[in-house]
Amino acid sequence: MTDLTSTTEKVEHHACGGCLDRRQLLTRAGGAGLAVAGVAVLAACGSSDSPGTGSGGTGGSAGTDGSDAQALAQVADIPVGGALAATDAGGNKILLVQATEGTVTAYSAVCTHQGCEVQPDDGELHCPCHNSVFGLDGSNVSGPADEPLPAVEVHVQDGAVYAGAA
Ligand code: FES
Repeated sequence: MTDLTSTTEKVEHHACGGCLDRRQLLTRAGGAGLAVAGVAVLAACGSSDSPGTGSGGTGGSAGTDGSDAQALAQVADIPVGGALAATDAGGNKILLVQATEGTVTAYSAVCTHQGCEVQPDDGELHCPCHNSVFGLDGSNVSGPADEPLPAVEVHVQDGAVYAGAA
């Protein structure tokens, strides 16, 4: 357990690329139960079996031909006035926000406090670790996190959200 302190420092240091460091944290903690819980969260994030896309899974082996970028989500799956958790092709956790209908913005889901995964929560973004709350614009509203969630560039095409600029 003394390793946790030094590992936590790594997570803070690499706040933007927290996914792998978080996995390392779980592994080092020897918490098989924690790892299972993390997988459950991932499954919940990618649980939308949207008819028509046929995409899914977590590992994300990329497509074969066409080299089209894989959609992060369908706009219709993002609640208006809320957010949807997603994972990009690089395994980064992001939050897709549709504050107003048809306008999608995105933020890193890595909490700026200590790197936990921030989740959508009824019109806000909530970190379950120490209860930081962020607005749908990524700004920190309350809690120990004192910096906003970094914005992530996304664009909408044909009703789907893709990483990066259009
Ligand atoms: S890690 Fe998010 S509030 Fe502490």
